[in-house]
Amino acid sequence: MKTIVSGIQPSGCLTLGNYLGAIKNFVSMQNNASEDDNIFIFIADLHALTVPQDPAALRKNIRSLAAIYLACGLDPNKSTLFVQSEVTEHSEIAYLLQTISYIGELERMTQYKDKKQKQVEGVSSSLLTYPVLMAGDILLYNADYVPVGEDQRQHLELTRNLAERFNSRFSETFKVPECLIAKVGAKIMSLQEPTKKMSKSDPLEKASIFLLDPENVIRKKIASSVTDSDGVIKFDPINKPGISNLLTIYSCSTGKSIDELVEQYKNSGYGDFKKDVADAVINLLMPIQEKYNYYLNSKELDEILDNGRDKATYFARKTLSKMKRKMGIIRKK
Ligand code: TYM
Repeated sequence: MKTIVSGIQPSGCLTLGNYLGAIKNFVSMQNNASEDDNIFIFIADLHALTVPQDPAALRKNIRSLAAIYLACGLDPNKSTLFVQSEVTEHSEIAYLLQTISYIGELERMTQYKDKKQKQVEGVSSSLLTYPVLMAGDILLYNADYVPVGEDQRQHLELTRNLAERFNSRFSETFKVPECLIAKVGAKIMSLQEPTKKMSKSDPLEKASIFLLDPENVIRKKIASSVTDSDGVIKFDPINKPGISNLLTIYSCSTGKSIDELVEQYKNSGYGDFKKDVADAVINLLMPIQEKYNYYLNSKELDEILDNGRDKATYFARKTLSKMKRKMGIIRKK
């Protein structure tokens, strides 16, 4: 029996990066899982609160992300889908783990340093403690595997350290989870600055493909993506980051290998290539968008999240009471 845990922040429109780097892998792990495996995929709304959010927009984004999960193929009969804040044990474990984490190790987190710089108004203390909440999300279910994109690697390292630290201070309690990062697609880059990752929060709209972008917008964004002037289609992320990113997107969207694509386009120009990349992305996203619209307005959505919350709570409570007992915060033995 294996346990798989992952989550995504409902902090805006999801990008193609979120799909290729994360959701696609959740779905394939789910589809390859055996009957007794446990898969927990959640909407990380507490994480979204680490930077200011418009409450009405956040509420909408939470539902929207649930509909996206379902539209992308997560199946509530195989995966437990829930909203993080509805399982209050997440907040509680985060505090317990904060008591064994060090400010120094949190200050070293690259995402914290980046986000802190971008923050114009005060930097909330939750931005610093965010990776501890994430460790809690994972340890609460005693995960074996955590599928994520490349940018979460450091947070997973911290999670592993905290699991080991807890085990050595309070006796064996947690498995030390493994980070699963796909070989291709774990870091989809911005279409406008292909040395930077594609991000939900990029203020430049045309830098990202959003999962809910209409067809014509996807075409325009890919057609205007930044490439280079040497006119050769080959995979070389250092010298040709734009073309390499498009090759990655094309490969992940179709299942064709990058080598196959390079061979296929060896005599083509960038214009034709970009047109085909756009077709591949559109073929991938249009069926998801159709299902999304169905789920967003369906009654099932709330039922699925209610059931997911109840199932997750059952597991979370067990872990938390074990932890508390080991830490000594229990009145009766
Ligand atoms: P978040 O919401 O920023 O991103 C969700 C997932 O998408 C991946 N991702 C990408 N993959 C490839 N290319 C990109 N350009 C790209 N951008 C994002 C991320 O690596 C991630 O897997 N802290 C997490 C959410 C979280 C979580 C957890 C994940 C909270 N608790 C516990 C796993 C386990 C986050 O902010 O992801």
